[in-house]
Amino acid sequence: MATSREKLQRTVREKLKNYQVVVVSNREPYLHYLKEGKIAHLKPAGGAAHTLDSILQACGGTWVAYGSGNADRKVVDEQGKIGLPPEEPAYTLKRLWLNKEQADGYYYGFSNQALWPLCHFVYTRPIFRQADWNCYQQVNKMFAEAVLKEIGQRKAFVWIQDYHLALLARYIKEKRKDVICAQFWHIPWPNPEAFRVCPMKKEILQGLLANDMLGFHVRYYGENFISTVEREIEARIDKEKTSIICHGRETIIRAFPISVDFQKISKEVDSQPIKERAVRFKEEFSLSGDLKIIFGLDRIDYTKGIPERLRAVARLLEKYPQYKERFVFIQIGALSRVRISQYRDLNDEINDLVEEINWKYSTENWSPIIFVRKTLSFPETLAFYRLGDVCIVSSLHDGMNIVAKEYICAKNNLDGMLLLSRFTGAARELPEAVLINPYDIEDFADRIKQALEMPEKEKAQRMAKLRETVADNDIYKWADKFISELAKTLKALRRA
Ligand code: F6P
Repeated sequence: MATSREKLQRTVREKLKNYQVVVVSNREPYLHYLKEGKIAHLKPAGGAAHTLDSILQACGGTWVAYGSGNADRKVVDEQGKIGLPPEEPAYTLKRLWLNKEQADGYYYGFSNQALWPLCHFVYTRPIFRQADWNCYQQVNKMFAEAVLKEIGQRKAFVWIQDYHLALLARYIKEKRKDVICAQFWHIPWPNPEAFRVCPMKKEILQGLLANDMLGFHVRYYGENFISTVEREIEARIDKEKTSIICHGRETIIRAFPISVDFQKISKEVDSQPIKERAVRFKEEFSLSGDLKIIFGLDRIDYTKGIPERLRAVARLLEKYPQYKERFVFIQIGALSRVRISQYRDLNDEINDLVEEINWKYSTENWSPIIFVRKTLSFPETLAFYRLGDVCIVSSLHDGMNIVAKEYICAKNNLDGMLLLSRFTGAARELPEAVLINPYDIEDFADRIKQALEMPEKEKAQRMAKLRETVADNDIYKWADKFISELAKTLKALRRA
């Protein structure tokens, strides 16, 4: 029987056979940097780029992204291109260069101080600066030029990713109406009440509506988007087709919950090198035999609920002191967006909390919390999944959350439990996890206890069901559904 990866390859061959496929995102899948005078590469933390890398490896094509590594320019050809993945190139990455001012205004400014807090409902105020918006427009235009140059006169399908590029489809279509553009929005879409404060709301909505299809993780975000459009601009909603017609152009709105490479993770996690890495981690962190390992793995971002998680661990120890010396909580945090003050403040808050909790509850031979500030490599991540008895995902708001799904893939022996925030997109698909409200520290602490004490049989039953769900909708199926839906609804592709 064909695998989901092979089926996707067939879909791309059949439906997009006359089309050049170009994926565009802000974040690149691999970045190159200097390490002890030599060039090394890493996969940046964050779900989107990671999952799309699997798709491009399977199907080939070109990926256009911002080259943000300090050695990125050293490894590309004269057109800014490099074959990836580095070990066995299967597709082409074209890097686009931004100067500091552009990166500040477009990435740190409008993308991550305006749109990010606007779309995540976590009580962090968005900041709208005209200068950032100008940069955002300018950089979206630069991406459009790079894409148009790449496709030349050919027929093309441009698959746009995320909130950094809300105006890209419009700029592409202004020059080439026939290019098929579809965008996947990797973060939540807020309700109209929240979105209405954005001074640039009309331009953003019109920019997104230049796409032929717009995808969200869950139906609720799509409904929010439609309500926002209804409220803010002149457009006709076709409820039957779930589409929006604006300026005579139709955009289909659909939900596609993103996923991970189930087969790859479940196979690699049991490989000898990963087993050995896990043993080394145990030695490194002095994780002796019967200590239960609870862990969290995130970018250090205020949407992820890391302080709430630490407070819940502290409350658990306060309420149930018998848990002292029975577990250790390891938080792995990848530094992220530290040019933004809220991210620096969050780092300080986490440091203070870890210090305070360890001071209060440590015994002679044991400290409850280990905080590792690092971007783990993929093998290291798998080693952690192997070790973890309980994985905590406590986002205050999250489009999907990839860690939750990856951890499930890694539990081949059904011997782990996932604590999952109700406010993630993933929670809608994964009800067999122990669901939590990260704001409710009292209940959160009890849910950690529940996971620690869960009978093996119940744990195995829940994990088996969770694995079935993720295996049934892996990353290749996600891409397959996206492309097939586009092909079903677009006349141009039906004729291809
Ligand atoms: O999981 C998707 C995502 O949240 C993106 O929306 C975001 O770009 C990425 O992860 C990580 O953030 P950054 O690219 O700023 O490191």
